[in-house]
Amino acid sequence: MLKNFWYACEFSSAVTYKPKQIQMLNQKFVLYRNQKGQIVALKDQCPHRGAALSQGWIEEDSIRCPYHGWKFQSDGKCSDIPSNKPKATIPNKACVDSYVVQEEYGFIWIFYGDLPPEQCPPIPLLPEFTDPNLHPIYYECKVNTNYTRTLENAIDFAHIYVVHNNSFGKGFKRGQKIEQHEIELEEWGASIKVDFQNYTKPNGFLKYFIRPSSSKVTSKLSFYLPNINKLEIHFAAGKIINFGTHIPIDDNTTLIKRIQFRSFFTYPWADPLFKKTNFKVSMEDKVVSESQIPQAIPKDLGSEVHVYSDALSLAYRKFYQENLEKLWKQIN
Ligand code: FES
Ligand SMILES: [Fe+2]
Repeated sequence: MLKNFWYACEFSSAVTYKPKQIQMLNQKFVLYRNQKGQIVALKDQCPHRGAALSQGWIEEDSIRCPYHGWKFQSDGKCSDIPSNKPKATIPNKACVDSYVVQEEYGFIWIFYGDLPPEQCPPIPLLPEFTDPNLHPIYYECKVNTNYTRTLENAIDFAHIYVVHNNSFGKGFKRGQKIEQHEIELEEWGASIKVDFQNYTKPNGFLKYFIRPSSSKVTSKLSFYLPNINKLEIHFAAGKIINFGTHIPIDDNTTLIKRIQFRSFFTYPWADPLFKKTNFKVSMEDKVVSESQIPQAIPKDLGSEVHVYSDALSLAYRKFYQENLEKLWKQIN
């Protein structure tokens, strides 16, 4: 896993004035809002006897441990030990790690690392979040494998008409060849644009938005280190933008949280139909991702075989390795 990056760890709407535990990067964090509504992020482990602070309660901007009631401020410092006599000194070590957080694009982002966040890669841009013509839905899926495999799955277009042949992939010609494509490299990510001619009706609900005769679909797939993917699909009825964070709970478990925007059929009452379609697609990907050996992408680029349509995943593997080896250190 990579450190010195911003990690989108939860939807903004899921964090309230009650403590909430987040599992990520083989660790546990507790998140809550202070009286101004700002997010506080602390390590979810009391320095006294290790109890989970997330099972405690909030007092003004501080959190009380559920075991012996020690009180911790939003900067992690202990401000009260109930069993101490009045005026007793609070040990300096009575302090939990606190983390820098940002709330952006509907997600809570935790900065995890030991460098100043300003010197580190920024949160990738998502200008679509404030576009009034786009309607969002939020959904998630847990996959029992390493996040590098699920991220790579999300930027792989050659699997679409194989894995998703019973859903939206049905509209692609079977055995469709990948035409010329070009990779755009960015500082912390890369994108690829692929056009598909002759897209016809997919299986499922989306077929109502595709012309009966064949049509053109334009897509753009992107990744941003360490764990973000973005998919844009343009077709006659409008466009779909899918933004996903592949949260590494631990080395073998990933929680994918996504926001999907659509420019057509934007009625909120239609959201369950789109969520149902996305759930089916997520389950199709989950089966394949969980079957992959090894669970993380191999460190050695030569240990799996690559072809023309793997260009973006190869770019991801190179970015990932470079950052593991040169700039940033591995967690643990
Ligand atoms: S374990 Fe938290 S106060 Fe004792
Ligand atoms: Fe897929």
